[in-house]
Amino acid sequence: MVKNILVAVDGSKPSIDASHFAMGLAEQMSAQLTFLFVIETPQVIPVGPLSGYVTTSSARSQEDVKKAEALVEQIAKERPGLKVSTRVELGEPVDVICEVAKTLGADLVVVGARGHNAAQRFLLGSVSDRVVHHAPCPVLVVRR
Ligand SMILES: Nc1ncnc2c1ncn2[C@@H]1O[C@H](COP(=O)(O)OP(=O)(O)O)[C@@H](O)[C@H]1O
Ligand SMILES: [Mg+2]
Repeated sequence: MVKNILVAVDGSKPSIDASHFAMGLAEQMSAQLTFLFVIETPQVIPVGPLSGYVTTSSARSQEDVKKAEALVEQIAKERPGLKVSTRVELGEPVDVICEVAKTLGADLVVVGARGHNAAQRFLLGSVSDRVVHHAPCPVLVVRR
């Protein structure tokens, strides 16, 4: 039985489509949904032995967090009958998605086939591809 669905959203059209698919599924299965938006933190670049590390500008990521929160809350509001929660995390998207799936005890992860780089020739984006490989539970890749 599917009772606890994690939906990964990056704000792209395919991820919004995947969210709608997941909401329909959750309704049919009386499952609860968690929408997760991962704000990708730039890799930490060692710039020299004494100069420490270049890290994210916190102002920039604060703004990103607000936008991401607004987006996931907007999606969640569309079906008031559903049991929905939203999360925004900073980090490496694949690692965070798999980690959150594990800690939530999700029994299904839903992703879009593509994200913001849909023009590329591959059928799957690199995030969806790696989530399929590394998630601790079944993964549904929504293609349109
Ligand atoms: N930062 C992210 N946070 C949450 N989910 C994401 C993130 N990036 C990608 N995803 C999920 O993975 C799907 C595929 O995106 P991705 O693999 O990045 O494709 P693309 O290469 O086209 O950007 C998205 O539709 C979304 O469900
Ligand atoms: Mg992407």
